[in-house]
Amino acid sequence: MSRYWSAVVHGLTPYVPGEQPKLANLVKLNTNENPYGPSPRVLDAVRAEAADTLRLYPDPGSDRLRAGIAAFHGVNADQVFVGNGSDEVLAHAFMALLKHERPILFPDITYSFYPVYCRLYEIGYQQIPLTESFEIRVDDYRMPNGGVIFPNPNAPTGRLLARSEIERLLANNPDSVVMIDEAYIDFGGESAVGMVECYPQLLVTRTLSKSHALAGLRVGYAIGQPPLIEALNRVKDSFNSYPLDRFAQAGALASIEDHAHFEALCARVAATRSRLVVAMVDMGFEVLPSAANFIFARHPVHQGAKLSAALRERSIIVRHFSKPDRIAPFLRITVGSDAQCDTLLAALKAIVAC
Ligand SMILES: Cc1ncc(COP(=O)(O)O)c(C=O)c1O
Repeated sequence: MSRYWSAVVHGLTPYVPGEQPKLANLVKLNTNENPYGPSPRVLDAVRAEAADTLRLYPDPGSDRLRAGIAAFHGVNADQVFVGNGSDEVLAHAFMALLKHERPILFPDITYSFYPVYCRLYEIGYQQIPLTESFEIRVDDYRMPNGGVIFPNPNAPTGRLLARSEIERLLANNPDSVVMIDEAYIDFGGESAVGMVECYPQLLVTRTLSKSHALAGLRVGYAIGQPPLIEALNRVKDSFNSYPLDRFAQAGALASIEDHAHFEALCARVAATRSRLVVAMVDMGFEVLPSAANFIFARHPVHQGAKLSAALRERSIIVRHFSKPDRIAPFLRITVGSDAQCDTLLAALKAIVAC
C-alpha cells in the first residue's frame, strides 16, 4: 500500500500465474506448456531477426503475421488481431468489447484471469455455476448481459462444449459479444472460427503458447468480424503500438506456416493424454473428460492439496486450486512427455498406496 497509488490499484487482486521455479530437474506439469519444442523453422526465423534491423521498430500492424494467420484459418487479414500473448488480447477485448452497463457472464469455474480484468477495468460480472459434472449449460446464459466469455475447452476442467451448443448460445445472444477463448482447442476440439462469418458478435481468441509450443514467445490472436477487430485496434493503439517485437512476429509466422510440426505436436500430446487418463483411472482417480493438454482429476481418498504437496516432495509440480471449494479435491495436471507422465504415474502410485 502507498499513498502514491491510483485509487483503482488499491482494489486490485492480481492474477497469480503458475509457478516458474528456477530449480533444475523438475517435472513441471503446472502451466500447460508443451513438453516438445517449437518447429525448427521458428528457431531459424528468430535467429534471422537477430540483425542490425533490431535498431528499427517492428511492424506495428504485424501485417505478415496477420496475413499468415488469416490464410491458416481461411479468413481475411482484417478479421485478425494479434497481441503479446492471448492474455493481452483478452485484456484489450475486455476493455474494447465487454465494458457495458450490464454485467458480463462467465462460468464460476474458469480461467481466473477473467475476474482480474473485470476489476482492472471496473466491469461488472456474474459467475454462472457449472453443472454437477462441471459442464457449461448454455441455457443458464439466457439473460440480459454485457457479454459472455468462456474458454473452450474450459480451464481448469478441460471439458469441451459442443459446436451445436455454441451455435445455440450465439443464436440466443445476438445483442452482446460472445468471446470464446480457444487457448486449448487444438488438442481435441473444433474451432469456432468458422462461425465468425455468420455471427457478428463472436470473437475467438487463440494462443501459440500451447499447441505451437511457444509460451516463451508470447503471441496470441483474435478472430472476429472487422468492427470487433477495429475496437481491439483502437484499444491497442491507445496502449502500445508495438506489442509484438521482431522475433515474435517472425517466429510466430514460421510456426503458423509449419502445419506438419503443429499437427504432430497436437497428436503426440493427445496420445499421451489418453494413456495418462487410462493409467490414472486404473489407480482409482476420477478424471474429467479432457479435450485440452491437461487433465483435471481427483482421488476418492487423497485430497488435492496433499497430493500436490506429496508430488512436490518428489520434484513434480502440478496445479492445485483451493477455491472454489468444489474443485479443491482436484489436481490440474499438464500432459507432459511420455517420460514425464511415467515419472508422475510412478509417484502417484507410491503416494496413493500409503
Ligand atoms: C484459458 C486460458 N486462456 C488464455 C491463456 C493465456 O495464454 P497466453 O497469454 O500464454 O497466450 C491461458 C494460459 O494459461 C489460459 O489457460
